[in-house]
Amino acid sequence: MTDRVRADFVVRGASELATCAGPAPARGAEQGRVAVLPRGAVAAREGKIVWVGPEDALAASVELVPGARRLDVEGRAVLPGLVDAHTHLVWGGDRADEFEKRLAGATYSEIAAAGGGILGTVKKTRAASLDELTASAGARMDRMARWGVTSFEVKSGYGLCAEAEYKMLEAARRAAATRPYALATTFLGAHTMPPEARGDAAARARYVDALCDEMIPHVAEAGLARFVDVFVDANAFGVEEARRVLDAGRRAGLGLKVHADQLASDGGAELAGEMGAVSAEHLEHASEAGLKALAAAGTVAVLLPAATLFLRMKEAAPARRMIELGVPVALSTDVNPGSCPCESLPVTMQLGCLLCGLTVDEAIVAATLNGAAAAGLAEVAGSVEVGKRCDLLVLDAAERRQLLYQFGAPRLFATVAAGHVLTA
Ligand code: NIG
Ligand code: FE
Repeated sequence: MTDRVRADFVVRGASELATCAGPAPARGAEQGRVAVLPRGAVAAREGKIVWVGPEDALAASVELVPGARRLDVEGRAVLPGLVDAHTHLVWGGDRADEFEKRLAGATYSEIAAAGGGILGTVKKTRAASLDELTASAGARMDRMARWGVTSFEVKSGYGLCAEAEYKMLEAARRAAATRPYALATTFLGAHTMPPEARGDAAARARYVDALCDEMIPHVAEAGLARFVDVFVDANAFGVEEARRVLDAGRRAGLGLKVHADQLASDGGAELAGEMGAVSAEHLEHASEAGLKALAAAGTVAVLLPAATLFLRMKEAAPARRMIELGVPVALSTDVNPGSCPCESLPVTMQLGCLLCGLTVDEAIVAATLNGAAAAGLAEVAGSVEVGKRCDLLVLDAAERRQLLYQFGAPRLFATVAAGHVLTA
């Protein structure tokens, strides 16, 4: 047989292989249809998938090169490696003190308005060295990979000055460079006003100028980030300021993201739709007009229900309405030291079902194919398809729904990242 494809790694023995194959992002009814191959197998070469099909056809289709590795998953379910499309995983220090304040009744906004919140982490992140940030971010990625994540979007936003923002982006790049994960970085210099720019309208305007005229062009030119993001919020940026930041990002060739309508309905979703953003994120308080704007623009709604829970918010994001309107929905951890220290994307997916009302298969698509679209990684990740990275999550159970059902601590057998097997 001469036309067999050559492979150096093969995964066999799956009870079911949820490939999630299909156009990204999936929306409407498509979001709830997971493509599944019963007893499916995967072959890869140099970390990329070269063949996917029923195991019965493996021998006739794939030639293993000498020394090829085989992973027999012995009747377990296999899914794509998960994509965490919204993380703030580079930071210094922690904010356990705020957690206790919030349990005692203070709100996230009250703590931020009093100079705590994000600014507390800015102080510690500015003080941390590049090496320290690289080490802690890398360790965090490794722990998250044990929960099945193989692709990360990582935002800056705890520097709030050129030097510290670039340091954060470089730390993310270095942490991923020595590991088998896919990475997309986002410049979030517009996370909140830096301490130096507070209480003075002129200083505030100068910071927005510096973002638009200095930092965004530099970040794009130096290849430090592929997206720009802005937090539209009473304690962060207004819609007009955010429009300027996004416009500067667009002119610099960056994709656009918006932290939108997290704590109140501030017009963030409307702005994301108007600007043709790749994603709008959070959205607990998005208005009907905002959701329609996202649907019209094809913007992915990245929902972060672990943050909703951790901030003890009453309303979760209106995921059912989003799906009805054809807004593609993704689920991500939002891992960060303040509003969500949760490192588990599977637990976040469970909360996507329990708090937002997604079905099991909608949640799976949200954390794979649609997360990849939101992170700009759909060409390389998010489904088990020829040409993509060989990223897999092997569940320690025979059916994929167990990933959502085993609340709090689903059992994973292994994560495969670019063909490297990490045992859970
Ligand atoms: O996505 N919403 C704004 N930013 C983060 C929180 C960051 C922090 O509290 O440190 C979020 O929830
Ligand atoms: Fe966030």
